[in-house]
Amino acid sequence: MVLHLRDCLSLLALGLLAPSLVEAGHLFENTAIVRTIELGGSLVQVTTTYAVKALEDGAQVYTIALGAREHERVSWLEAKLKGQSAILPIEAEGYDDESGAFLYSVEFPSPLNVNGTSNLIVETVESHATYPWPKQASQSDPQSLKYESDLFVFTPYHTTVERIKYRSPSPTIHSYSFPGDVDEFTMEAPVTKSGATITYGPYHNIPPSTSREFVSEKQRNVAVHYNYDSPVVEVVKLKRAAEISHWGANLNIEDNIHLRNAGPTLKGHFSRLEFQASNFYGRPPSHVLPALTLHLPAGIHSAYYYDLIGNVSTSHLRTARSPIKGMQNSQASVLELRPRYPLLGSWNYSFTLGWDSPLADYAGFDKASGRYVVGVPLMTVIPGAVVDEAEIKIILPEGATEVDFFPPFPPIESEIITHVTYLDTVGRPAVVLEYGRLTHKHHGTILVTYKVPLSAHLKKPLAVATAFMGLFVLGFASKRMDIRIQKK
Ligand SMILES: *[C@@H]1O[C@H](CO)[C@@H](O)[C@H](O)[C@H]1NC(C)=O
Ligand SMILES: *[C@@H]1O[C@H](CO)[C@@H](O)[C@H](O)[C@H]1NC(C)=O
Ligand SMILES: *[C@@H]1O[C@H](CO)[C@@H](O)[C@H](O)[C@H]1NC(C)=O
Repeated sequence: MVLHLRDCLSLLALGLLAPSLVEAGHLFENTAIVRTIELGGSLVQVTTTYAVKALEDGAQVYTIALGAREHERVSWLEAKLKGQSAILPIEAEGYDDESGAFLYSVEFPSPLNVNGTSNLIVETVESHATYPWPKQASQSDPQSLKYESDLFVFTPYHTTVERIKYRSPSPTIHSYSFPGDVDEFTMEAPVTKSGATITYGPYHNIPPSTSREFVSEKQRNVAVHYNYDSPVVEVVKLKRAAEISHWGANLNIEDNIHLRNAGPTLKGHFSRLEFQASNFYGRPPSHVLPALTLHLPAGIHSAYYYDLIGNVSTSHLRTARSPIKGMQNSQASVLELRPRYPLLGSWNYSFTLGWDSPLADYAGFDKASGRYVVGVPLMTVIPGAVVDEAEIKIILPEGATEVDFFPPFPPIESEIITHVTYLDTVGRPAVVLEYGRLTHKHHGTILVTYKVPLSAHLKKPLAVATAFMGLFVLGFASKRMDIRIQKK
């Protein structure tokens, strides 16, 4: 699980203050909880607002709880106060044996006094939380997904009133659970549907839901079965290599992407004719992925895209100009990428996508410290997709020393290795970061700082001279030369 934990140091300090679950119940109560679940494909966005009231003076550390199933899915977790942009420090408190929930402490900016209130907004992004239902669909069938979760929000505090809303991207909702036996929490209909929204509650006077008794006797399972009109895209593996060249004043980024359509598998045969006809009428089957639209950085050139068979020439790239230094640049280059074949449910597609950029768009030199600072984008977001595994390698100029790096989110693993290519004498330092379950929330920039001693600059021409003869002998042909996507 990748958590968004900005300030590790203050989190460590927070660990000393974290209350145990038993004490937690006396500190606060929830005067209201509203949870909204935006149903999706690979990703489901959950926003929970806790209207909090302090029951003791000096209450500052609030505990949020995730049920085991929820915890397994959460790829992103962030807490803020309503109407404020500052992210509150969160610390994982681990698994609570009593309730089977995972606990996190959130620290309010200042302590609350008795009857003091605050509105806490917790946002999570869940991945792999939906599944195609039925599991098989013929080419002309619509795509339907199912999402299951626990009815009541897990919390160690008493809750006065609670509502849980499921919002479907399409008004076609095939079914949703009717929770039986919740009379003690409501006198009215336990669930209502209005358009594409299903609302559970309001439920009143709910005791702390992280007790073993509540989990076994009061918690309910909820399933929503809905239409989903876009393909469910997953990136099983992303390998990004970013190569910094001072000589060429270039930043080359190359992504190796293993894509998967997690939608229903095809019942019967795939008919290309039927596919083309449905495309012609503007109604391509919702579970087939014909193309992806990606936003690449501005100022890129020499883009290339190839798969296992070779050059793929059916894509279009519209490049935006390089940003002007010091100005905010909202323009992006837009690539419409067409896999070699339309991707059906459970089908995989591996490809490589790369481009060059002027190094000046990403790099700066800090005179005071004598260091270069380069900001490398962590990834290119594929809209709606989760990236299960990512390896990001940033290859620095040969001879770079005092290498340091500052990722926007803590990686699962990181190391500095020596990357050896054919022209190098001693290899180049490379920063390698590994991530899991990345979502659209995880776009960001990895800052790398380093020094390049003057002597390192001189090694390169020597290496080029000795490698030159070798090139002819090997008949080396750079793959990159003939695989460029034409700019339209
Ligand atoms: C807090 O609120 C309760 C109920 O509204 C009230 O009885 C109590 O006196 C309040 N306490 C303080 C310290 O204001
Ligand atoms: C690759 O595709 C581009 C764009 O269509 C084309 O100009 C180029 O000749 C192709 N190269 C090869 C080796 O097929
Ligand atoms: C796609 O790849 C997965 C493993 O990543 C494999 O289990 C599955 O069978 C593949 N799908 C097809 C249609 O080959």
